[in-house]
Amino acid sequence: MSSPRLFPIVLLSLFLCLVSATAGNFYQDIDVLFGDWRTQILQGGELITLSLDKASGAGFRSKNEYLYGRFDMRMKLVGGDSAGTVTTFYMSSQGPTHNEIDLEFLGNSSGDPYVVHTNVILQGKGGKEQEFYLWFDPTKDFHLYSIVWNPKNIILLVDEVPIRVYRNWGTKGVRYPSDQPMKMYATLWDAEDWATQGGRVKTDWSKAPFIASYKGYNASACVWPSSSSNCPSSSPTPGNEWQSQTLGVKGRNMLRWVQKKYMIYNYCTDFKRYPRRLPRECRKSRFL
Ligand SMILES: *[C@@H]1O[C@H](CO)[C@@H](O)[C@H](O)[C@H]1NC(C)=O
Ligand SMILES: *[C@@H]1O[C@H](CO)[C@@H](O)[C@H](O)[C@H]1NC(C)=O
Repeated sequence: MSSPRLFPIVLLSLFLCLVSATAGNFYQDIDVLFGDWRTQILQGGELITLSLDKASGAGFRSKNEYLYGRFDMRMKLVGGDSAGTVTTFYMSSQGPTHNEIDLEFLGNSSGDPYVVHTNVILQGKGGKEQEFYLWFDPTKDFHLYSIVWNPKNIILLVDEVPIRVYRNWGTKGVRYPSDQPMKMYATLWDAEDWATQGGRVKTDWSKAPFIASYKGYNASACVWPSSSSNCPSSSPTPGNEWQSQTLGVKGRNMLRWVQKKYMIYNYCTDFKRYPRRLPRECRKSRFL
């Protein structure tokens, strides 16, 4: 029945199936970090649930290390009373002088808003926090959270809307993470001593287990040690625009909208914390 002409097409579609299957299959891409069975890989590797109970949280991380990339994750956060819980998606290298790019979601009492806590940690030093509310309920559906990290800047996006940019100023006084490869991490843990309203609202363990879901992991990224073709170049091929992505006019307008309406903390305007002198990158530009 099958004509010989169809054969290459069948082969090609088989190949495409394999390629799309490897784009984000948790069985192949990640290792469980802690929490044993509390990390569950479901739906043939497309979905992970993390659960948190009084004994432990859970987490996983990518097998690969990367030096630059765009990292996408669709997440559905702990619903109902999530006070005290912290759900994360972040990039990190290892050791006491590690670098880290953080997206952390601080839970709340039922009906009260989540806070997105962001930070950039360089050579083991943090202190660059910005915090935001979201413009939707992150517990109802999956939403897309992205970390773009290239030699020019780091851009954090929520449903493709930039909420934060950390620029590589290329000067000595302002550090930038370009010296260490990082892995992708995702965790769910308890931080009732600080996460919700500064620690005043504790975790209600009668509501445990708390569950967060992750799917659609897509690392379009430069694998370390660099054997991949997907590493930053000044003229990226289609699909790899992240390699030289900056905000542009549209992005800057969206960022301003987020900062105006949803930002609740910015270290760059915290004059109490930095009474004598704001960090240097803040003096260069408050936001961009
Ligand atoms: C929780 O809700 C309160 C009251 O709306 C709000 O002030 C706070 O920022 C919310 N988030 C956290 C993590 O405390
Ligand atoms: C993965 O991300 C890249 C870069 O943003 C994009 O071109 C590609 O279509 C994505 N793949 C999937 C399966 O979503």
